[in-house]
Amino acid sequence: MTIVPVALGERSYEVHIEDGLLDRAGDALAPFARGGRLIVISDETVWAAQGGRLAKGCANLELEPILVPPGENSKSWSTLSFVIDRLLALGIERSDHVLALGGGVIGDLAGFAAAIVNRGCGLLQIPTTLLAQVDSSVGGKTGINVAAGKNLVGAFHQPSLVLIDPLCLDTLDPRQTRAGYAEIVKYALIEDPPLFGWLEARGQAVLGGDSEARNTAIAAAVAGKARIVAEDERETSGRRALLNLGHTFGHALEAETGFSDRLFHGEAVALGMVLAFDFSVERGLCPAADADRVRAHLKASDLPVSLDQVGIAANGKRLTEHMMHDKKKKGGRIAFILTRGIGRAYVDKSVEMAEVEEFLDRQKK
Ligand code: GLY
Repeated sequence: MTIVPVALGERSYEVHIEDGLLDRAGDALAPFARGGRLIVISDETVWAAQGGRLAKGCANLELEPILVPPGENSKSWSTLSFVIDRLLALGIERSDHVLALGGGVIGDLAGFAAAIVNRGCGLLQIPTTLLAQVDSSVGGKTGINVAAGKNLVGAFHQPSLVLIDPLCLDTLDPRQTRAGYAEIVKYALIEDPPLFGWLEARGQAVLGGDSEARNTAIAAAVAGKARIVAEDERETSGRRALLNLGHTFGHALEAETGFSDRLFHGEAVALGMVLAFDFSVERGLCPAADADRVRAHLKASDLPVSLDQVGIAANGKRLTEHMMHDKKKKGGRIAFILTRGIGRAYVDKSVEMAEVEEFLDRQKK
């Protein structure tokens, strides 16, 4: 088993990564179950696919599932209110832990419920998608979507333990896995050039489900995230903002598709990273050869690398409007994550929106 520590003082915790962890989760979870009972928040699809494995692996515990419908719509006030009412009806206490079993939606929803019920109870995460395993389950960001935008209501609430069982990915749609893979590439591009070289060599094995390659990639990504979160838990110093590489362009693309399944989040991040690299090349910051390598690798991983490919018009005005509505806007200016090359991302607050608009207008290929 690989154990990645997340060093946050009294909020420190471990991320355990191993094939089959779900089938033997009982021992790791038992210390967090009051009187042997553990409340699990999941969605109906994940529970149907993985609930049986978890129940078997937790024969020593009494599991109390709270199930919500699958999909982004569950990150809502109404589902949060349903979950909170159920937790209170089940007699949740502040010293209890709830377990989030699922993808990013469940982790964010259950995490936020745990952050506010009884003014906060404990949280455990068993992420079941690649995106949740390498990103959302680690670092303590929780929240829901509201009318004004995605993730605009939430809290930082760190889990006490994260258990990652890569075998959960075997029942997933490969497109979901490829989208999650984009976030692994992101960590390499932020500050880990050797990881990028390794992904160029082993990425197909990771995507193909090769156990050794997949677990190595997940562990490297989690370690990258843990390092950054430990240095800037609440995204105040600019360090954690680096995790938004590809996300400002990506957010605009997702917004343009109405956040629909036409473009998964990870796919938008992949294309967003290509745009961030190309933009950085145009500004004379980044070698063109690095941008070419990034594009080639994402393309080989069957991820989108052009607007045309995902049927989005190169309309700079519309796309920059979406960016201005995003939460990362500060004082009318957006902090862009640009790059000086592979592994050399940085926060740039000097970007003029007119420049971005003109760049996006030229993406007609
Ligand atoms: N997903 C970005 C972060 O956790 O900060």
